Amino acid sequence: MARFERIVTLQQPRTLAFGAGCAAECAGDIARRGLRSGLVVTSPATRALCQPVVEALQQHIATVAIWDGITAEPTLADFRAGLAIAREMRADAVFGIGGGSALDVAKLLAALVDGQQDIIETFGIGKLARRNAYLACLPTTAGTGSEVSPNAILLDESQQLKRGVISPFLVPDAAYVDPALTLTVPPAVTGATGMDALTHCIEAYANKLAHPMIDTLAIEGIRRISGNLRRAFQGGTDLAARTEVALGSMYGGICLGPVNTGAVHALSYPLGGEFHVPHGVANSVLLCPVIEFNLPAAADRYADIAIALGADRGPDDLSTGRNGLTLLRQLAIDVGIPPSMKSLGIPEAAIDRMADSAMTITRLLDRNVRPVTRDDAIMIYRSAM
Ligand SMILES: [Fe+2]
Repeated sequence: MARFERIVTLQQPRTLAFGAGCAAECAGDIARRGLRSGLVVTSPATRALCQPVVEALQQHIATVAIWDGITAEPTLADFRAGLAIAREMRADAVFGIGGGSALDVAKLLAALVDGQQDIIETFGIGKLARRNAYLACLPTTAGTGSEVSPNAILLDESQQLKRGVISPFLVPDAAYVDPALTLTVPPAVTGATGMDALTHCIEAYANKLAHPMIDTLAIEGIRRISGNLRRAFQGGTDLAARTEVALGSMYGGICLGPVNTGAVHALSYPLGGEFHVPHGVANSVLLCPVIEFNLPAAADRYADIAIALGADRGPDDLSTGRNGLTLLRQLAIDVGIPPSMKSLGIPEAAIDRMADSAMTITRLLDRNVRPVTRDDAIMIYRSAM
């Protein structure tokens, strides 16, 4: 595993606030920026949470509009609908308030509202030329880490494929990680998003690009999420548990820029693209099958992960790693994740097609600790059935 062999660069929001109530700081931070027209991007489910923020913003920006057109899996068409509104109002500020989908779309709107590039030109790494509009993100779920990541994912409905834009311009100017905003998240979403955040930390720690500067955050994220997700799932209003999971999620998000994820995420994209399985559920169903596959290639790393999950140390790294797998399987059950791809309605016949699709996600597969061939992908999907 590469250690100090490469340079690692953290690109983070200039303002990164964490803690219950910190959403209220958003308006004050833009007071002297001279912004004229702000668009708040959210979903119907989180619209009510936006109201206090919007009222505060209106003290500093002449025009503030809310667009709640975000769906669970935002498509290119959804994005273009938001873009038309942002352009119409000549937005010079975009505020994403919601789950990862709202934040991802807000980030892309802020970057593309000036009309200099079409979204199609920006898919991939480093294709985005600029971002002129001010951008702030306020996550209302603890999972994607989008508020601190340079990534945004959209569903290209013509190809039933999730496509990513990765650019430092997508890192917001400001992020407010306020665990109080997550108190009303329903259990199913808490479980799925929490498992996504846990997967970010695990895949960043066991990764070809893993780096000591990020390892600490990844391990701490694993410890906090795995130790508190059950409580957040069972008792939604447990602010202490929500805060621990939100912090772990933010750590997972910070891992995404400099290291990113691996085969779990690559293989999960077709489950979302074709079968509309929520991102966190797709990751969770594939997490243990991928770790079983990866384990011999990075037993020491998975042993560290297992210890952070609370597992007992075995006679060697391989058995310690397996102890961690047992805990991960139980955690997924305890937070309501369906047990298999079959239970998500995915037929065996789709596996070849999904493997073809996953093999195109080379930006993530290249980072996986063990090379993944198409046959390997098929085998992993089969073991997740
Ligand atoms: Fe993810």
